[in-house]
Amino acid sequence: MKLSRAASFLCLAPLAHACLLPEESAHESVGVVRRQTTNNTGIPIGKADRFNDGTIAPRGLGTQPPGTDLGTLLSVKEIESAFRGLAKEYSFETFASPFKTYENATIFGGKIGGNSKGKSESPRVFFNAAIHARERGSSDNLLYFLGDLLYANKQNTGLVYGGRTYTNDDVRKALSTGIVFLPLSNPDGVAWDQATNTCWRKNRNPAAAIPGNANSIGIDLNRNFDFLWDFPRLFAPTVAPNVASNDPRAATYHGASAFSEPETRSIRWVMDTFTKLRWFMDIHAYAGVVLYNWGSDENQAKKQGMNFLNSTYDGERGLMPDSPAAGIVYSEYVPSRDWADKTYAAMRMGNAMDAAVGRHYEVTQSAYLYPTSGASDDYAYSRSFANPKLNKIHGFTVEFGFGNQAASCAFYPTPEQYHQNLLETGAGFMEFLLSASEIGLGDRGSY
Ligand SMILES: *[C@@H]1O[C@H](CO)[C@@H](O)[C@H](O)[C@H]1NC(C)=O
Ligand SMILES: *[C@@H]1O[C@H](CO)[C@@H](O)[C@H](O)[C@H]1NC(C)=O
Ligand SMILES: *[C@@H]1O[C@H](CO)[C@@H](O)[C@H](O)[C@H]1NC(C)=O
Ligand SMILES: [Zn+2]
Repeated sequence: MKLSRAASFLCLAPLAHACLLPEESAHESVGVVRRQTTNNTGIPIGKADRFNDGTIAPRGLGTQPPGTDLGTLLSVKEIESAFRGLAKEYSFETFASPFKTYENATIFGGKIGGNSKGKSESPRVFFNAAIHARERGSSDNLLYFLGDLLYANKQNTGLVYGGRTYTNDDVRKALSTGIVFLPLSNPDGVAWDQATNTCWRKNRNPAAAIPGNANSIGIDLNRNFDFLWDFPRLFAPTVAPNVASNDPRAATYHGASAFSEPETRSIRWVMDTFTKLRWFMDIHAYAGVVLYNWGSDENQAKKQGMNFLNSTYDGERGLMPDSPAAGIVYSEYVPSRDWADKTYAAMRMGNAMDAAVGRHYEVTQSAYLYPTSGASDDYAYSRSFANPKLNKIHGFTVEFGFGNQAASCAFYPTPEQYHQNLLETGAGFMEFLLSASEIGLGDRGSY
């Protein structure tokens, strides 16, 4: 049974570090000053522009001989240059979101594939990278993978990611889904983190900053989406302090209102603009896990009225297990067919990532990592419940890698880990696209 692997994974503790450092995962995180015990910042950041001002396309490990070394981490400048190089080499459509960041950066994206029978179709799959600044390698994983996919398509070859091999037919099938992507959704945060090595997670908007407190700059973009955003009112009182924070000093500060930030508005804009999207993948580090909806509470498929929109349950969400004695019994509704599809795609992805280099990825519902409010993957899936006119988008998060405990920031991989992460995500993204193409690109309401 497909679910057995997920069902065996009910303990929250081993994954509690995903995206958050131990001292950040609870309300005590406020104002914590982390000790810098080492100058080890993992793989160095690229100094020159290897893509020569947007004239050279990136090519990942899937189309190069085993043992190929891609060298340093992509700098912010290189992410942008690699993106332009890719668009130039393969002539795909690029765009800029209408919302500029606090530091006036543009959030840029591209649209590739989706051609069937000679006509270009609206993309069904959306990849988002680098929403959390310090999760180094997020943009790299995506750009190198897309570079491989387009190269293999053009050269009529397949892909090899360690122990996982894909044929040229697989490549064409993956591309036929149509892909829209944002390779750098938090440009200010990533630029700051790369410049300072401060293990920075949020964006750089100082709107709520407290003078003299450097941690109070920025909003956690992955708590800023309009899904159960107002967590103190909507979650159970004992859980609420952990699902997000309304203190600007916290790593999980959720902002002044849902979609207060240009970065999250840009992601919503992509979902509004490409109206046939069905699959959304947000690329994070690190926990070695593939997550699917929901992130608010345990899933259930029996009570349709027990859901995030129903105010009857305000103040009761997020408690796992429930507390019938305290009158709190809530789980989040998911239609059983959707649940099966999400599990199927996530399991295939996890299995492919396992096979790439032999490290084990867990596959589970995101609430089992820890319940969250205002996250991108849940927002993506919630849209068609809140407004039935919108396309249904299944939401996923991958937490690539397993952390670098020797570094000043565990999110900064070693060169070897960086390389392993590229192989694993290459196989995982490929499997995600193949799952999407096999089980559902249909228009709204088709299942
Ligand atoms: C880190 O680097 C600084 C400046 O180069 C140096 O003063 C400090 O001793 C180093 N710390 C460690 C733990 O190596
Ligand atoms: C962003 O651009 C605006 C308008 O040009 C300017 O007023 C503002 O100072 C810029 N902000 C930053 C942080 O550079
Ligand atoms: C909300 O939940 C209550 C309690 O279970 C239920 O009676 C009601 O029908 C639900 N509302 C909606 C709109 O489903
Ligand atoms: Zn993250």
